[in-house]
Amino acid sequence: MTKASPATIAQLTSTPALELIDIVKEYPGTPPVRALDGVSLRVEDGELAAIVGPSGSGKSTMLHVMGTLDRPTTGQLRIDGRNVSEFGDRRLSAVRSQLIGFVFQQFFLIDGMSALDNVANGLLYAGLPTAKRRVAAAEALIKVGLAHRLGHFPNQLSGGERQRVAIARAIVHDPAIVLADEPTGNLDSAASEAIMELLHGLHQAGSTILVITHDRELASSLPRQISVRDGRIETDTSPSHSNDAGSGWPAGKSAPGHTASSQLLNRANDE
Ligand SMILES: Nc1ncnc2c1ncn2[C@@H]1O[C@H](COP(=O)(O)OP(=O)(O)OP(=O)(O)O)[C@@H](O)[C@H]1O
Ligand SMILES: [Mg+2]
Repeated sequence: MTKASPATIAQLTSTPALELIDIVKEYPGTPPVRALDGVSLRVEDGELAAIVGPSGSGKSTMLHVMGTLDRPTTGQLRIDGRNVSEFGDRRLSAVRSQLIGFVFQQFFLIDGMSALDNVANGLLYAGLPTAKRRVAAAEALIKVGLAHRLGHFPNQLSGGERQRVAIARAIVHDPAIVLADEPTGNLDSAASEAIMELLHGLHQAGSTILVITHDRELASSLPRQISVRDGRIETDTSPSHSNDAGSGWPAGKSAPGHTASSQLLNRANDE
């Protein structure tokens, strides 16, 4: 028997931030589309990973299922060790709004609203009064380098600035997990670099981050690459999937809000 590496031991003893167990996702239609065809994946607390794969391979579907935006047809999604597949809709949206931040390629900002209010909007579910939401939004915008653009509307911002507003909105509630779908897809290389620096900063502060990207160079600059094809995981550089079990495993640090996330997930009843 081969000796277990420290990385393998760390994995066996920690609770993953996210775990997908044999997830199948079918979209109805004639014929139905099987976008995910039995995906099992474990993402540890504090990991930063790229998800790559051809168009139509199921990457966005996977991110939506991981982020509880979409329910799988079959299989289990576990967040911080809890099987959230069995949660009701209200509890699931509480989990989503408190633990998870999304960044989308198309930004999804509201046109008639300032950068500040777009970000403050991300706290609507937190039950904070407007003034407090705005203070937190200003802080998030300062973090992404937009202190000078708080009052600008989306059509008065550059693409890179809009994406930074979207990132501020994704992180304003201090989520344990950030899921980004092509966050640099619409940006030039300088703006992309700035966005990636931001994501690296969040990672260093302890967040678990998954980034879908078509950019090979960007993907290979991240500690882990997961490739998807035809709704399945094709390759994964994580030690649990590769033969090189000794490298690249994160130091088992806790994501911010981790204790809070356990409390939220462990609350006994679904309202
Ligand atoms: N709402 C839907 N209804 C039916 N089929 C869908 C739906 N959303 C996605 N699909 C199909 O599921 C498959 C996976 O789609 P998905 O959006 O996950 O791909 P992707 O890997 O993100 O692709 P891209 O790189 O182009 O964004 C595709 O074949 C797509 O046509
Ligand atoms: Mg996609």
